[in-house]
Amino acid sequence: MLRQIPTDKLRPGMYVDLSSVNWIDHPFLRSGILIEDDSSLSEIRAAGWDNVTIDTEKGADLVDDERIVASVICAPKSVAIVSPDSSTAPTAFHDELVTAHGIHARASEIIRQVMADARTGQLSDFNDVSSLADEMILSITRNSSALVSLTSLKTRDDYTFMHCVSVGIFMIGLGRQLGLTGQDLQLLGTAGLLHDVGKAEVPLEVLNKPGALTMDESVLMRAHPTLGYAALVRAGYSVESVLHVVLHHHEKLTGEGYPSGLASDEIPLFTRIASVADVYDAVTSNRVYHSAMPPTAALRMIRKRAGLDFDSTVAQALIKVVGIYPIGSMVRLSSSLLAVVSELNHHNTAKPIVLAFYSIQKEAYIKPERIDLAGSDVVIESDEDPLEWGLDVRRFWHL
Ligand SMILES: [Fe+2]
Repeated sequence: MLRQIPTDKLRPGMYVDLSSVNWIDHPFLRSGILIEDDSSLSEIRAAGWDNVTIDTEKGADLVDDERIVASVICAPKSVAIVSPDSSTAPTAFHDELVTAHGIHARASEIIRQVMADARTGQLSDFNDVSSLADEMILSITRNSSALVSLTSLKTRDDYTFMHCVSVGIFMIGLGRQLGLTGQDLQLLGTAGLLHDVGKAEVPLEVLNKPGALTMDESVLMRAHPTLGYAALVRAGYSVESVLHVVLHHHEKLTGEGYPSGLASDEIPLFTRIASVADVYDAVTSNRVYHSAMPPTAALRMIRKRAGLDFDSTVAQALIKVVGIYPIGSMVRLSSSLLAVVSELNHHNTAKPIVLAFYSIQKEAYIKPERIDLAGSDVVIESDEDPLEWGLDVRRFWHL
């Protein structure tokens, strides 16, 4: 849980979360700091913040009495969802990011539990998933980028369920771009969150196998849509459009997908949306058997296959959801600096806010500099693959 506490309550053993702090506001090139001793405590205090956010899953928490007075910024999942009427006012990216982190963390817990229940045949209650979809819609309505920017927060180990969370987020974003509202967005979010529930029944050694799958393993892997559909039906789930996504999200417009080889008009909009969201998130994620494709390369690949594997309108909407240069992309600036995209500019997607961190001329890291390209003569010359430069860009943005 993320908890905001007064800085003077910090003590060794706590983990300070810096993920929602703007890079220009602090000197640490990290997303968080474990306070190991008094010297790291002094280092944090020297930053001059009145309050800080601690992550109680990564470090020590306050003692009980202190907890009562600290403001909890990440409510437990049992807390009632605020009504949409009072919680859809637009928020700034960095303000929404705090809430989005809380939603993302709860999403991780909820989907992990859904997968565990599916594995043991105990799937029965979908209220948490439905409430989670509501929270995600509210966040994306308040600010369309904050929750989307967290979709790359996953590791090779938690990929299976965090991928479901990401696909839910992308499906809601795509639905909004396509003009869908209300119950449609709810169903899209729920469908994304549940789309790979069948993977709960695929052995981990197959899901996480680094090399090529044998024929039998491949058959098992490709059974996950059918397994997921069957598990949901067994659990009494009956929403047709969601079940269709679960069963058919690997179909292609060309008819070359699975499990049924559905083609073009046989694939309804929700399932077309799921297909684009699923593939974009899968290829931009690090897996045991491949490194993440840069987001810009993934967009190019999807655009190239638009009208073939993917619905063209949905593929176009994806660019609007994630931007021409999605958050986390590494770009080369006309000022001979490498930068990472840290915030989108929805009025001009070619001019996002970036964090410049590397001088090409000096071949050296520089002190990170935030540049709003919309108010600058500097332009993006190209998108770059961090792997080709041997750079890890994730530490230079809010991850
Ligand atoms: Fe899948």
